[in-house]
Amino acid sequence: IAPVITIDGPTASGKGTVASLIAQALGWSTLDSGAIYRLTALAVLNHQVPPDDALAVAQIAEHLDVSFHVNGVTLEGQEVSSLIRQEHVGNLASRLAPNPALRAALLARQRAFRRLPGLVADGRDMGTIVFPDADLKIFLVADVLARAERRYKQLIDKGISANLEDLLADMRERDRRDIDRSVAPLVAAQGAHTIDSSKLTIDQTVQTILSLYRT
Ligand code: CDP
Repeated sequence: IAPVITIDGPTASGKGTVASLIAQALGWSTLDSGAIYRLTALAVLNHQVPPDDALAVAQIAEHLDVSFHVNGVTLEGQEVSSLIRQEHVGNLASRLAPNPALRAALLARQRAFRRLPGLVADGRDMGTIVFPDADLKIFLVADVLARAERRYKQLIDKGISANLEDLLADMRERDRRDIDRSVAPLVAAQGAHTIDSSKLTIDQTVQTILSLYRT
């Protein structure tokens, strides 16, 4: 059975970047589980399913026609890599995520990413629910202001206008939704190592995790 490293944490904690650098260093593959929730949200929009219809949303997740390849991801044959990064898609994903039937429908799909030589999986419940037997579990946190500032810089660098106050408010709202939900709430998994990346560079965070794995 292939080894797994899980990286869970709140929005904009740097999980995705850190996960892909670790996968690169080890020659492993990655699972961006947030992308699967975003793809579901996009399919819900495309098929005009009411977001509050829990069973219809779970049906969409169950039959999601997606394929991941080196340069991106397609949904029902359409290239959607940048579409799923849009703010309204992320927001809908965050609102759909508490649905237990939806989460159950996505479980097998996420576990199928586990293959040799290994997998780095990032999200909210990778260590608690999807891969409870992971070889190393990381809970990656950063204070909300540091996360809002990072997101702000990313947007400005992309030439998108942004407002730090709005980003802060949005981040607090997403944290609240992730932490307060009754299914798969965002908590450190049993045995997880908590790393606060507020005062670490990306490279320092990556090195810390790699040395935890190697010891
Ligand atoms: O980093 P950001 O919050 O923008 O989004 P993401 O990691 O791409 O995930 C999108 C949404 O899916 C989040 O709002 C999470 O609440 C949800 N999600 C989840 O519930 N469980 C996961 N394993 C991954 C994401």
